[in-house]
Amino acid sequence: MRIEVAAAPRRRNLDGGRVYAVTEPAAPASALVTRAPATPPSFGETPFPVRNGLAGHPLFSDERIEELLRRLPRARVEVRRVTVDPDPAGGWKRGPMDPDVDPVAAFRGLAQRPTWMLLHDTWKHDAGYRDLLEQYLAELSTLFPELAPGVSDLGCWMFLSSGRSVVHFHADPDQSFLNQVRGGKTVFVYPARVLPEKTVEELVYAYDQGVVTYDPAYEPQRFEPVHLSPGESVFLPLYAPHRVINDDTVCVSWNVGFNTARSRRRRDVHCVNLELRHLGLTPTPWGRRPRVDAVKRASRFVFKAKNRLLPFTRPKIRV
Ligand SMILES: [Fe+2]
Repeated sequence: MRIEVAAAPRRRNLDGGRVYAVTEPAAPASALVTRAPATPPSFGETPFPVRNGLAGHPLFSDERIEELLRRLPRARVEVRRVTVDPDPAGGWKRGPMDPDVDPVAAFRGLAQRPTWMLLHDTWKHDAGYRDLLEQYLAELSTLFPELAPGVSDLGCWMFLSSGRSVVHFHADPDQSFLNQVRGGKTVFVYPARVLPEKTVEELVYAYDQGVVTYDPAYEPQRFEPVHLSPGESVFLPLYAPHRVINDDTVCVSWNVGFNTARSRRRRDVHCVNLELRHLGLTPTPWGRRPRVDAVKRASRFVFKAKNRLLPFTRPKIRV
């Protein structure tokens, strides 16, 4: 299978981005991702497990990760100080950036200093991870027919984090599989519907998880916590907020995110609703009236054109 990932897929685009076509099986006998007993045949609103074959994979050895850290531009390595469980500050807020620390030193110090590292754009700077992403998507597509027509906004993100560290409450502007490679962690997932409609609109429009904030009122609707050990993965549904608490040891995780034709259609409705709200209107939320949603999807191009021609009219999102 060849999947068009070499040409720098974009995650933070606003216009849907390119579609990565899935055309034929590449390595049918390989097992980067396999079905678990509770894996459903399609994506829905709830998290579910799959299994991964990444534990012990050479791309996740200390030496190979350090090679990657040296290769990545410093701006593409996000290093944050984090709280450790139990979260003393409360609120599951994002910790401050540590922009001056050397990434390799931060990685080596994970066992001593509570730190959370997020490696962006690895597939653009290292062919090994690009090939891994390509193969992972190929195998994933054999499990989920929804992916067969191709995906967009494809990307992978590596997380390196200290034992007992807490990952802030947030939502992502896509759906993804979180794969545990080393160490263990517990993932707390909430239904996307807990978020205010305006927050979802801003999330998909700005592509910045900073618009999402925690509210204790969400807790009663939280799904059962999911514990991940090496070789275990969880599907994080579209826009579903989540937070994470690590076990006692250093964790290495690998997230693969994407949009499908279905999620792109939903995103278009949210983006049009945001534009309408910006005009002082109160749009019908996504999903209430399918025919109205269809009209909004069809009119997205009007707002794109408006924003290109009159950029000063583009809604500003405060993050
Ligand atoms: Fe996330």
